[in-house]
Amino acid sequence: MSVNENKEWKPLIVAFCCNWCSYSGADTAGNNRASYPDNVKIIRVPCSCRINPLFILRAFQRGADGVLVMGCHPGDCHYTTGNYHTRRRMTLLFSMLNYLGVESARTRVEWVSAAEGARFAEVVTDFTKTIEELGENRRLEDLRCKTN
Ligand code: FES
Repeated sequence: MSVNENKEWKPLIVAFCCNWCSYSGADTAGNNRASYPDNVKIIRVPCSCRINPLFILRAFQRGADGVLVMGCHPGDCHYTTGNYHTRRRMTLLFSMLNYLGVESARTRVEWVSAAEGARFAEVVTDFTKTIEELGENRRLEDLRCKTN
């Protein structure tokens, strides 16, 4: 029996967070000691519209089991309309994911403000549960990128 057979699988979640709201929301969650799963890798971007859909496909290829896109609430984007572009772009990506055979539930767009630490923790916890139910991402995974 190898060491890996005893390991309990934990999903790897990548969360792209905009600098002005969601990233601060994550900070607020930390400051308020709100608990959320520790298997989330947060990547800070200037605005949610900076997230090229290829970033998401690349994350799946590199072994992510789920990818969260988080930004300011509609109407609150620091760059006025960035999150509207994100919403449209991600809608297209989700339909493409379905076409590729990847469950679109593996990605989610959420709006979290800087003051919503509790909401950040809630979203991450709920998303992690969804991904645990879906299981490991096998469809777009590149085995050369596997670390364990
Ligand atoms: Fe947060 Fe644009 S700055 S979504």
